[in-house]
Amino acid sequence: MHRVSNGLSAAETKKSHEALREVLSNTFVLYVKTLNYHWHVIGPHFISYHELFKDQYEDLFEAIDLLAERVRALGHNTPSGCAQMLEYSSISESESNLSADDMIAQLVDDHFILVKIIRKNIVILEQVNDYASADMLIERLQEHEKMAWFLQSHLL
Ligand SMILES: [Fe+2]
Repeated sequence: MHRVSNGLSAAETKKSHEALREVLSNTFVLYVKTLNYHWHVIGPHFISYHELFKDQYEDLFEAIDLLAERVRALGHNTPSGCAQMLEYSSISESESNLSADDMIAQLVDDHFILVKIIRKNIVILEQVNDYASADMLIERLQEHEKMAWFLQSHLL
């Protein structure tokens, strides 16, 4: 495919790709985990938690799509499936038979893992002059901090 340069060198674009891939993969694993907890949560606060998890997996799904499309716009390929996403993710897959509060606590931990990964990668993206990707990640940073706050507010 004929490509017109966006002004970033191949080395800069490679760094951008690696930064976005790490955020994409962790977001993907957290999306599947949140969806799984939406399905399996039980207890006296079922509706509240079920709906909260739905709001959050929908946000995460939108983010996955935007991050993946940004990777493609830079001329790279995304991880092609769950196994590859897991390979690039620090967040692990969901456990089964967790209590509702343990699900919440685990998701809070995972959102803060992502917050740290995103913060690190914003610095990298700015160093390689990829401000469009850095801007996307700044928005994601705010969303993950907000989701962690919503989750934590359900714990006593
Ligand atoms: Fe549902």
